[in-house]
Amino acid sequence: MEIELKPEEFELFRRYIYTKVGISLSAQKTTLVKGRLNKRLHQLGLRSFRDYYDHLVSDVSGDELALFVSAISTNVTSFFRESSQWVWLEKYLPSLIEAKRDKKIRIWSAGCSSGEEPYTILMFLQHHLNDFDSWDIKILATDISSKVLSKAIVGSYESKHVESLPREIALRSFEKVRNDTGISYQIVPHLRSKVMFRLYNLVTDPFFFKNKFDMVFCRNVMIYFDDETRHDLIERFGKVLPKGSPLFLGSSESVTTHRETFKLLGSSIYQRL
Ligand SMILES: C[S@@+](CC[C@H](N)C(=O)[O-])C[C@H]1O[C@@H](n2cnc3c(N)ncnc32)[C@H](O)[C@@H]1O
Repeated sequence: MEIELKPEEFELFRRYIYTKVGISLSAQKTTLVKGRLNKRLHQLGLRSFRDYYDHLVSDVSGDELALFVSAISTNVTSFFRESSQWVWLEKYLPSLIEAKRDKKIRIWSAGCSSGEEPYTILMFLQHHLNDFDSWDIKILATDISSKVLSKAIVGSYESKHVESLPREIALRSFEKVRNDTGISYQIVPHLRSKVMFRLYNLVTDPFFFKNKFDMVFCRNVMIYFDDETRHDLIERFGKVLPKGSPLFLGSSESVTTHRETFKLLGSSIYQRL
């Protein structure tokens, strides 16, 4: 039986979610929240959305919040997503190599979901840098959801996601693993060791970064945020990117403010000015 979501209950969720993750739920989302969260209430043996609200706010681990966010948004991702950005990056790479005399590259994948994005960055660099192994490359990959991060850390993917990759890249980047559920493909250890996965809420967690990044990827994350949240986040990205470095957003996202800090280069790629 479907549990009803009363307007005053929806209002509680709306306010809480906005302050916690910057997602602004309009009243039209009532049906979506009710539909997507009903199963969770049944799993927890709860009888009302008010009880679920109490459960959500009292969960200090943040896991329930991540589950809520996953239910109303999406963790959808894939290897080499936004193909035109990788074409752009190929052209940009020689100038990055030239600038990085210390052979140190630091990249942030913000909202990395189950890891396809940070691992794609590594596959891309391994493919294009002849002396890849002599580079000191580290990727910070963060997400609000511990569930997707656990998957990302293991780095194991179904064959259908790997088969579509260029053969040379797939062979170098994955190893075949047989388990109870069949065959999966796991990212090779030397690539996995270059990614540091961390639980991090882009909206409420303190911005503690001391060092700068050579690139920031924050793709398909801000779509659910309101203008103010997006504005604040872009401002913070500006602080961790040195002049000239690129910021990659999702194809439906853009920087409409901060004209003095970011310039559009193409395909939702912005350059820090
Ligand atoms: C649609 S996925 C995008 C994954 C990847 N960047 C890509 O483009 O393929 C969006 C991810 O952003 C994460 N996310 C949403 N709100 C967040 C927040 N406030 N802080 C950190 N991560 C967040 C979600 O958990 C989800 O994994």
